[in-house]
Amino acid sequence: MSPPRLHRRTVLSALSASLLPALGRAADAPQAWQSSYAPYNGPLKAALASGPLPVQGRWPAALRGTLYRVGPARRELGGARMNHWFDGDGMLQALRFAGDGTAPRISHQGLLLATPKLQAEEAAGRLLYTGFATTLAGSPPLAGPDTVNPANINLLPLPATGELLALWEAGSALSVDPATLQARGFKAWSAATQGAPFSAHPRTAPDGTVWNFGYVPGSGKLLVYEIAASGQLRRTHVLDAPQADMVHDFAITPRHLVFLLMPLKFSGQPGVGDPLSHYRWDANAPLAALLVDKADFSVQRFELPGTGLFHIANAWEDGGTVQVRFVAQPAILQALRQLRVDRPRDPASTTPTQWTHITLNPATGQARMETTGLHGVEFPRIHPARHGLPTQFTTLLARSAGMDARVHGFDTVLTLQGDKPQSHTYGPGWIAEEHVYVPAGPGAPEGRGWVIGTAYHWPTERTTLSVFDAQAVNAGPVARVTLPYGLPLGLHGQFVPA
Ligand SMILES: [Fe+2]
Repeated sequence: MSPPRLHRRTVLSALSASLLPALGRAADAPQAWQSSYAPYNGPLKAALASGPLPVQGRWPAALRGTLYRVGPARRELGGARMNHWFDGDGMLQALRFAGDGTAPRISHQGLLLATPKLQAEEAAGRLLYTGFATTLAGSPPLAGPDTVNPANINLLPLPATGELLALWEAGSALSVDPATLQARGFKAWSAATQGAPFSAHPRTAPDGTVWNFGYVPGSGKLLVYEIAASGQLRRTHVLDAPQADMVHDFAITPRHLVFLLMPLKFSGQPGVGDPLSHYRWDANAPLAALLVDKADFSVQRFELPGTGLFHIANAWEDGGTVQVRFVAQPAILQALRQLRVDRPRDPASTTPTQWTHITLNPATGQARMETTGLHGVEFPRIHPARHGLPTQFTTLLARSAGMDARVHGFDTVLTLQGDKPQSHTYGPGWIAEEHVYVPAGPGAPEGRGWVIGTAYHWPTERTTLSVFDAQAVNAGPVARVTLPYGLPLGLHGQFVPA
């Protein structure tokens, strides 16, 4: 497959400069910005179920399986309250697509994950523990990170063992029964790694091998995991990795692991009044790219202009170079401070993200970074069986010019096929959640199939699942299902085919 040609500055500049504003619609009558948080900043039901649900439009006959999603949900108990989007007990959602195209049976189930943290706080009748960016007075000392593990960021299906793992960044994976959504306890890959961090963005290679990492801020180390498709731990290795103080994502290629370590430095315990004061942006330090040889874990380090990031879309080998596609967040500390559930978004304090390309050349040691002109995007997703292989098709979220500037998040789903964008803006009152690409089948060309995702409509307090033809997102959804309630705004999801 020829390498993607995404770095056509003119096309993507035109997208940001003209297409997105053109897609924006006139804003609704002013809404209280707080209403966009209604489902997750107030009372929350621990369990939800509905279905079969009526389908609007034509459900694709071959689209069968389950979209699992997870995110921070419970933020208040006994008068104690968390105020950051990333702080909240994980709630697992399962949107199940059974039946066939003529008689689809769509249902939803949601359940708060019964972590030790949730159980301890329910027994106490109130939230007890300080979170990632919320400080609670009197928070007890921790036996380890899993004491406060809310299992609220992402999911990893393990087909060979029938497990679904709910992931956090700083602790163990939580094993969940994919049929009942009941938590079955933290996963121990081995005695030596029990309780060690297992990050929230593992990469499953085309052969089923799962690669992941874990880190402890300030340690200067990365713990690498290689897990066979059978679910058995194959290897672990500890890498020296200065500046690995906040590492949310990584990438794989057939030969390498790729880490992008941003110059966000950990400097100890949080100060009073600013729960993120233990992180400091070092404007003089580079973005460090580590290319790790999978065979012997040797590391080659590259330096790039300093930028932050949450998510990498993909990486692959190309003619002796390594290509990386990611979403740069130039002001990540500012972005983290913005993600409060008790304050409106402040557009004056917002720096747009940038869809960015990196080329690493192991032979020459040279590294190059190019921004594309597409900005304001996040939540990149690719073909689930092409991690580490060249990809042309990426699904992202974006903000239209018409979105209420006080509301956090996104209102537009956007796809890139090569350098050709398509997008659909949900419109006033909507917040779009991460959308995922579901290939039409194992042999189908990349980009054929569906883009599916949920969006929350705050005026009616309802969540809707939309299905798009992946080749025609501009045309709007081909099928929609609206739940009889709103779901807490989540983070990431995974589709498991039937
Ligand atoms: Fe993430």
